[in-house]
Amino acid sequence: MAISRIGVLGAGQMGSGIAQVSLMSGFQVVLADVSDAVLAKSRAGIGKGLDILVRKEKITEQDRERMMAGLATTTSLAEFAACDFTVEAATEKEELKLDLFRELDGVVPAGRILATNTSSIPITKIAAATKRPDKVVGMHFMNPVPLMKLVEVIRGLQTSQDTFVATMELSRKLGKEPVPANDFPGFVANRILMPMINEAVYALMEGVGKAEDIDAIMRMGANHPMGPLALADLIGLDTCLEVLNVLQQGLGDPKYRPCPLLRKHVDAGYLGKKTGRGFYSYEKA
Ligand SMILES: NC(=O)c1ccc[n+]([C@@H]2O[C@H](COP(=O)([O-])OP(=O)(O)OC[C@H]3O[C@@H](n4cnc5c(N)ncnc54)[C@H](O)[C@@H]3O)[C@@H](O)[C@H]2O)c1
Repeated sequence: MAISRIGVLGAGQMGSGIAQVSLMSGFQVVLADVSDAVLAKSRAGIGKGLDILVRKEKITEQDRERMMAGLATTTSLAEFAACDFTVEAATEKEELKLDLFRELDGVVPAGRILATNTSSIPITKIAAATKRPDKVVGMHFMNPVPLMKLVEVIRGLQTSQDTFVATMELSRKLGKEPVPANDFPGFVANRILMPMINEAVYALMEGVGKAEDIDAIMRMGANHPMGPLALADLIGLDTCLEVLNVLQQGLGDPKYRPCPLLRKHVDAGYLGKKTGRGFYSYEKA
């Protein structure tokens, strides 16, 4: 079926980015979250992202107006009934995602695809919360969505070939390069990335180096564009902790146990850039 309207559930950093690239690729977007305040912040952020492109003369002012006019925001999941393809990008909590998929399944007409941007939770489990497991797929965008090329497309046990192909095609229409992965906790990207970030937090906790030095060593020594602690702050320390919990529980190997210092930061509400403080401070002086 032709896709013209994309539903995005969750208007945090990832949902906002997915909505922005969808608008930029000519789709209508329905963006949902729990409060009007979050939605207003997301709309303003998308507007700012498009302003930058106008200034760089990549799009015209008219393009920007047309894209913003294609964005509808709502706190009601019922609006997803009008969406041809829905991507869930809410907080990384298994119970929450299972509830949201149960609800989406009741609202979105049968036969339409429900994708999840989860970083680690098994697609097969999320799919089993619906009556259309063949239409559920992982569509794992990277952060920041407008800049990062990759979409990891994950097939659950029951994901159909049609669903997989349609998701690969949509990813390309969004200007991304989709790469397939199979359904294991953390898939490929976070199975490899999160143990590195976790080890960097252990190195910090054990006093092997200061945060700035650990990051500088990995930037210059491994040619990474960002150090692992700055990257953890960008991802969100709550999301990192949840992914490590999923890896540890799902794979049963203690090597994935989250570092106590990571847990402590999350307990304190230091979630990274999004809250103004993580391993670094982002508060304006
Ligand atoms: N941060 C990253 O680098 C990254 C990268 C790839 C994938 N992801 C995944 O994307 C998803 C979102 O992550 P994020 O970084 O955008 O988190 P975030 O904290 O910025 O945003 C999550 C949003 O979900 C909303 N939400 C929570 N419960 C909801 C509900 N019942 N209905 C509607 N909205 C609800 C929250 O209000 C919040 O706005 C997670 O599954 C995460 O694992 C994150």
